[in-house]
Amino acid sequence: MSAYDDVYRRSLAEPEEFWAEVAENVHWTTRWDRVLDDRRAPVYRWFSGGELNTCYNALDRHVEGGRAEQPALIYDSPVTGNVRSFTFRELRDEVALFAGVLAGQGVGRGDRVVIYMPMVPEAVVAMLACARLGAVHSVVFGGFAPAELAVRINDARPRVVVSASCGIEGQRVIPYKPLLDKAIEIATHKPDASIVLQREAARAELTPGFDLDWHEAAAAAKPRDCVPVAATDPLYILYTSGTTGVPKGVVRDNGGHAVALYWTMRNIYGVEPGEAFWAASDVGWVVGHSYIVYGPLLHGNTTILYEGKPVGTPDAGAFWRVIAEHDVKVLFTAPTAFRVIKKEDPEGRLMSVHDLSGFRYLFLAGERCDPDTLGWAESRLGVPVIDHWWQTETGWSICANCLGIEQLPVKPGSAARPAPGWDVRALDSGGRDVEPGETGSLAVRLPLPPGTFPTLWNAEDKAAGDDQLVDSYLSDVPGHYTTGDAGYVDSGGYVFVMARTDDIINVAGHRLSTGAMEEVLAAHPDVAECAVTGVADAIKGQIPLGVLVLKDGAERDPDDVVAEVVRDVRAKIGPVAAFKTAVVVDRLPKTRSGKILRGTMQKIADGTDYKTPATIDDPRILTEITGALAGIGYPRSPSGDS
Ligand code: COA
Ligand code: AMP
Repeated sequence: MSAYDDVYRRSLAEPEEFWAEVAENVHWTTRWDRVLDDRRAPVYRWFSGGELNTCYNALDRHVEGGRAEQPALIYDSPVTGNVRSFTFRELRDEVALFAGVLAGQGVGRGDRVVIYMPMVPEAVVAMLACARLGAVHSVVFGGFAPAELAVRINDARPRVVVSASCGIEGQRVIPYKPLLDKAIEIATHKPDASIVLQREAARAELTPGFDLDWHEAAAAAKPRDCVPVAATDPLYILYTSGTTGVPKGVVRDNGGHAVALYWTMRNIYGVEPGEAFWAASDVGWVVGHSYIVYGPLLHGNTTILYEGKPVGTPDAGAFWRVIAEHDVKVLFTAPTAFRVIKKEDPEGRLMSVHDLSGFRYLFLAGERCDPDTLGWAESRLGVPVIDHWWQTETGWSICANCLGIEQLPVKPGSAARPAPGWDVRALDSGGRDVEPGETGSLAVRLPLPPGTFPTLWNAEDKAAGDDQLVDSYLSDVPGHYTTGDAGYVDSGGYVFVMARTDDIINVAGHRLSTGAMEEVLAAHPDVAECAVTGVADAIKGQIPLGVLVLKDGAERDPDDVVAEVVRDVRAKIGPVAAFKTAVVVDRLPKTRSGKILRGTMQKIADGTDYKTPATIDDPRILTEITGALAGIGYPRSPSGDS
């Protein structure tokens, strides 16, 4: 039996023994009573009765254990020309002080803090300061518009919001404070205070009595110690697109999270404590939570916080510079970053000027890695390139080639085999396993391993959060978590994740709901009906495409309406939606029962073969749609040019 098979088998056969052993690596102030608490199955809890502090495990423990002078975090910001390194001791001290600032504003155990910040060290400090106090952070990605931020503020009900005066996107400075002010204005829940980091690129005007200046507040604060919390207490809430316009509040606990992430660092990513690990993502996404902040720090690794882009800051060699300068052993990013680098530097010439000899592995996730990109990265870098599959809900990878256990052969297009703890199945509509190689709905047998999501956030009523978890994810096939992804498992046990089963699309590795965009389009006064689909894009993987039908009598130039809905999506959801293209048609293709044939429109736009659905109301509409899409350059050529 291979090493992987052995570990995998044991993780499923003896999950409690397996994870209890891993939990010995975490510092507990009170040991758990139950490793796996199944008293409320299908809702499970890990390590119930146990108490710990996640910030203590991420920082103080290393300071006390001999890593005080090791860099914990290296902030590399080509957009500001800054590189700053924080040792574990320095980061612990910054965090303890900011915990004092938060405590001074009344933040304590269980209180929520919304963090709306660019990729600056203070974002990490704010997250860890919440963890230190037992408060619950909810980070909102900077590319979301005020309305989306307001929805999250209303749901999380934070006592305090932490933000910065601006973000820097490539060459552009984006003032954050007006976005924050607008969000607070439209939110029904009002936080007590906001703490704003003033950045030189654009300082913000602060409102006395409500806004505090980060540095002034820190200068007046006293450091705070770690507060032990229950293993099952929430560490954070991270909102993610669901099937409706309302995002879901994915909750992460303290105990299971610390245990699982600690384990993944060596076993999946193959790094040893002390080595540098870089997740080129954003703290606003789950990858940023797990692998910019918590995973590396829990394991005693140096984490890189990169404020820049793969290209343009200043060029397509930026990643290689960062790897060489900071001796990064493992990089984790999204395939889209590699597609954009490949487009600018197809020969990989900018790699050759950097010493990449210490670089060991590249991990990719966020979307399926197309075999071309995988092959290009492998051949240029000469290291294993590992596609692995995960979700905001799962917090760490469902499937991966666990390089720290055993390097399995790479199959391009597959996210490899289930990680230990994950019993992955491809199921038919009746909930039965399909044959190897046959496509089904991808599900995971319960219980999910530690570090996943024990519940969905409900500020009013915890039990209601559990019910929402069951309704949204655990009720399709009893005893299983429905991932929302479809794909197949081949005869060798490799999992191929091919598509979503719902309206979620992946744009540049960012998860977005087309349903939410349709809500914005439908609210336009001249739009009678609409559909949004995710069409293939050579760089971003997918981009949204809107198809609109105008109201009878709307005497409008279609181009004007298109421009207006593009503006509306940017204003209401945010630039991250990357909604830039729409077309006006006379009618939408529908089934006889009135269901819009989004999938067929998507295939027409992508130029892939499709069968006219037998249930279509009027097949002639497809010819009209084909003509309208051709008018805006669809299908595109494989290079992405129209
Ligand atoms: N604050 C404000 N605006 C933001 C933002 C932030 N934090 N992040 C993105 N945006 C804006 C961008 O500036 C862009 O605006 P524009 O329409 O005015 O140009 C828009 O949101 C879309 O952003 P994005 O889809 O990221 O496109 P991009 O062209 O700026 O960059 C990539 C494309 C591929 C370089 C970039 O998406 C990338 O590096 N992705 C890989 C890493 C990653 O983040 N993965 C996430 C999960 S692992
Ligand atoms: P997010 O919650 O933003 O991490 O997005 C999760 C979704 O991204 C998954 O449900 C998949 O649809 C997609 N995804 C992430 N990683 C992969 C991968 N390696 N292969 C295929 N799809 C992926």
